[in-house]
Amino acid sequence: MRKGEKGIFVVMAISIVVLIGVKIYQNSKNEGEDPGIPFYSTANKEVKDGAAKVMHFVECKKCHSIWGMKDFSQSVPAPSLDGMGMFRTEEWLYDYFSSENPQEMLTSRLKPEYRMPSLTHLTDDERKVLAKYIFSLKVEDWYLEETKQARYEKLTGNKYNNEAAKIK
Ligand code: HEC
Repeated sequence: MRKGEKGIFVVMAISIVVLIGVKIYQNSKNEGEDPGIPFYSTANKEVKDGAAKVMHFVECKKCHSIWGMKDFSQSVPAPSLDGMGMFRTEEWLYDYFSSENPQEMLTSRLKPEYRMPSLTHLTDDERKVLAKYIFSLKVEDWYLEETKQARYEKLTGNKYNNEAAKIK
């Protein structure tokens, strides 16, 4: 190996070591700054797949966001389904989805065409798997307060303040 070539190798080796060092430093610095996505589901694959079919069919995403996403052509201010399992029991959800008139269980502030529709046209098994899945949608503790506030504001149309924040 000629002298010049040796020099290039040494420079390259140093550069690589420096780059790796910078990367490791950046990664360690980011820890705590970006805690990641706060939403998760505790459901198994069977429940997830079963519910996905029903949700696709009913088009929940026309009104609700889930996993932070919503059909962007829609502007219905329905609460996000992310974290819903922190606020409702599986039984409540099943009853809600089985009600002829869901607004009897949860009053609406919206025009009739934007309100939560009755899902009585689904089969009992479909409503059960839906309730199971929606109940499985949880949120990490560090994001619970934000989720609570966003839901309150969607349901009531009012700004959240701590005294008023009890939704039946
Ligand atoms: C036409 C719009 C629309 C569609 C479609 C829709 N929803 Fe809703 N949903 C709403 C609205 C709006 C509310 C808030 C109550 C109201 O205004 O009736 C609501 C309320 C809810 C709630 C209770 C929210 C809470 O904070 O307690 C759940 C759970 C829910 N919907 C799940 C679903 C699921 C699951 C689907 C699909 C299978 C679905 N919704 C389809 C509009 C919709």
